[in-house]
Amino acid sequence: MKKTVRDVEVRGKTVIVRCDFNVPLDENKNITDDIRITSAMPTINYLVENDAKVILMSHLGRPKGEPDMKYSLAPVAKRLEELLGKAVTFISVPEVVNDEVKEAAKNLKGGDVMLLENVRFRKEETKNGEEFSKELADMAELFVNDAFGTAHRAHSSTAGIASYIPGVSGFLIEKELEFLGNAVENPKRPFVAIMGGAKVSDKITVIDNLLKKVDCLIIGGGMSYTFYKGMGYEIGTSILEADKTDLAVSLIEKAKEMGVELLLPVDTVVAKEFNNDSEHFTCDRDKIPADYMGMDIGEKTVALFSEKIKNAATVIWNGPVGVFEMDTFAKGTKAIAEAMAECDGMTIIGGGDSAAAVKKFGLNDKMTHISTGGGASLEFLEGKVLPGVDVLQDK
Ligand code: 3PG
Repeated sequence: MKKTVRDVEVRGKTVIVRCDFNVPLDENKNITDDIRITSAMPTINYLVENDAKVILMSHLGRPKGEPDMKYSLAPVAKRLEELLGKAVTFISVPEVVNDEVKEAAKNLKGGDVMLLENVRFRKEETKNGEEFSKELADMAELFVNDAFGTAHRAHSSTAGIASYIPGVSGFLIEKELEFLGNAVENPKRPFVAIMGGAKVSDKITVIDNLLKKVDCLIIGGGMSYTFYKGMGYEIGTSILEADKTDLAVSLIEKAKEMGVELLLPVDTVVAKEFNNDSEHFTCDRDKIPADYMGMDIGEKTVALFSEKIKNAATVIWNGPVGVFEMDTFAKGTKAIAEAMAECDGMTIIGGGDSAAAVKKFGLNDKMTHISTGGGASLEFLEGKVLPGVDVLQDK
């Protein structure tokens, strides 16, 4: 168990907090989804209420190790001011930390909040460079990591900084670890996992790890076609990782050996072209025509999967089961989200595309927990140690 902000004295201290404010922006720099900011507010409010001097930091997007104002955190500073109902000091300098920023940090009073510019404007950040880690640490007495979405990165602001000042977790990381950790290590059964997405190669380790934990593993999405191919079915022009068909078969065999039920789609919606208006129909999985590609799960599959999901005591979902960005092929993914919404057990959405899908279908409130981490929740489910958590002090 890691220490949290509750376990240390924060009153009067300068506390530097790593958040994941990597939020989507539209062309006018409006934040189109602020869940990552609102999810960090419990920690920020706690620090403010307890008279800490708060320095917030985050990355946004992937600037190539140099300042690129397209990725400035200015829109985040504005949103934070609205949420906090008070001014947030934001000094936007390309070097992120300079004398002016250090001076402003020194002049903070209890309850004040400042935000640094995008830490990825510094090339040392993603290399976990010591000098930058130290520059960040020198401004504060305590490091709080609340950036669950970036906890799988060993960067200066997520990991390196903890070599210089003590590090504890914020409430968001605490909550994410509690939900994801309990679901995996101490699940109420039956425990069902749904893995979707385009590629088997992205999900091998997580499937492998979850096979040791779940009662039923459901596989959908683009990667099903690699499984089909391995099983000897023709898949037309569907997405295929030809070098992963043996692996897919070995996962099926492994599930059998371990007594885990592994469900693949039994029917599929196929289309002539990869677009929303393409001619399409549903066929059984062994009847995919040579010039058609799989785009979604079919109705028989929806019924099969939904039954399992609704009767589960714990469900984790990571990855859409169809091309849900196109309305014509979003029905399967929507049905999975609806089955989860109807499930009385614990329902956990593993961030990324599945979180986007649940939001698109307006079912956010019906889930027990929606992770703010895409890559991070996947690595956690793979059983990996997250560097941004590892560096924090133990209780
Ligand atoms: C995410 O959006 O998954 C996190 O903010 C991490 O971003 P990254 O993949 O650019 O490190």
